[in-house]
Amino acid sequence: MAKNKQATWGGRFESGPAALMQRFSESASFDRRLAPFDVAGSKAHSAMLAKVGLLTAKERDAIHKGLDRILGEIESGAFVWDERLEDVHMNIEHALTQRVPAAAKLHTARSRNDQVATDMRLFFKHACTVLAGKVKAAQESLLKAAESGRSVVIPGYTHLQRAQPVFAAHHLFSWMEMLERDRSRFLEVADKANECPLGSGAIAGTTLPIDREFAAKALGFVDTKGRPRVTQNSMDAVADRDVFIEFAGACALFGVHLSRIAEDLILWSSAEFKFVSLPDAFCTGSSLMPQKKNPDSCELLRGKSARLQGNLHTLLALTKGLPMTYNRDLQEDKPPVFDSFDQASICADVLAATVGGLVFNEARCRAAAADPALLATDLADYLVGRGVPFRAAHHAVGAVVALAERRGCAIPELPTEAVRELHSGFGPDWAKVFDLKRALSLRRGTGMPGPAQVSRQFARWKRILGPRR
Ligand code: ARG
Repeated sequence: MAKNKQATWGGRFESGPAALMQRFSESASFDRRLAPFDVAGSKAHSAMLAKVGLLTAKERDAIHKGLDRILGEIESGAFVWDERLEDVHMNIEHALTQRVPAAAKLHTARSRNDQVATDMRLFFKHACTVLAGKVKAAQESLLKAAESGRSVVIPGYTHLQRAQPVFAAHHLFSWMEMLERDRSRFLEVADKANECPLGSGAIAGTTLPIDREFAAKALGFVDTKGRPRVTQNSMDAVADRDVFIEFAGACALFGVHLSRIAEDLILWSSAEFKFVSLPDAFCTGSSLMPQKKNPDSCELLRGKSARLQGNLHTLLALTKGLPMTYNRDLQEDKPPVFDSFDQASICADVLAATVGGLVFNEARCRAAAADPALLATDLADYLVGRGVPFRAAHHAVGAVVALAERRGCAIPELPTEAVRELHSGFGPDWAKVFDLKRALSLRRGTGMPGPAQVSRQFARWKRILGPRR
């Protein structure tokens, strides 16, 4: 036998791969984390082989026992990985073959192409469930923060200029909506992953009488009625990486949301705003300036979102232009996916923890929200209520704002006669508009920041998130 021949596929080769090639092409260093899914896949596959008579029950049981033992060793760190065996699949199969003779039959009617596709789909189902749970935990933390600032009113901003007053809870609930979409997006990706590619072989299935539905069912690739879900085209099943891209896309969009939340918190915690203080445990100091308390957890949330976008782009670029079907390029699909999962996971945890220690500075918020200019639109609405067309009302209020600016006073401090000179529609009660409480209570429609609506949203979020853990 020629030197250094590869045991798994070396039959037609004169010599084995160069050491440099082995180091270059191995994936065991990163795909070993697929071991639990690979073992589950092999157990289902061998159970199926036994069902159709390609393995005896005894052989199947020996294989299952061996696989369980190997997984135990992998989990305890005792397993010895060998980069010459390329990847997680061959490392496990090789170890199994050394212990269980029947393992030489395990790869019957299977290729690493449908094997890795199956492993990854199992991984996505798991990862999406984990992430959906973590996003929910962050939402629970946000709901608590909203409760702690139940009566706090802040200016809402457009163009980062003060726009109109809102309850701080209304602002926090805008983040909740984004996170709720992220959560359902992860569950949708889990559903997309829920089709079993096993049985597609390398590209064209197999001549052997396998039972794809049996294996799919054994692995939990089932619909809501428990019926098996299998992929419908063997070529697509080994070539398709859509769900990888959708997963990375869901993580990237989650990252964008995290980044926007983080940016608000960074602004709010600055001396210029001072609306909130962030927990010390999630801030850092400066090595030079003793007074500094930097919002590093939020800045890193903002920064990590770039990384999540990069991973999505890597996968899009990797897949584009590949001829059907499997190409070894696709081995590079795993590092970005794993990184997105790891980073999105820790980001969700950090958001939950940071928000968990959020304290509103009610006095600062009140002072900022008390700016009467925030209710200029309400004054225009007042004129509309007295029959003035909105465009004319807008113009008249603009003149009122300019007059107050010229006189260096707040709008409600202007004398009624001066205001009436600008538009006859202003009545003696015009300045009532600037009562903040009244202004908020008038915002009654669904989705608006009035107190009744905010209470409804508190109840709604409690209902959606369910009882506290
Ligand atoms: N480690 C490989 C990957 O992740 C497994 C599939 C290998 N298939 C092959 N035909 N060489 O892509």
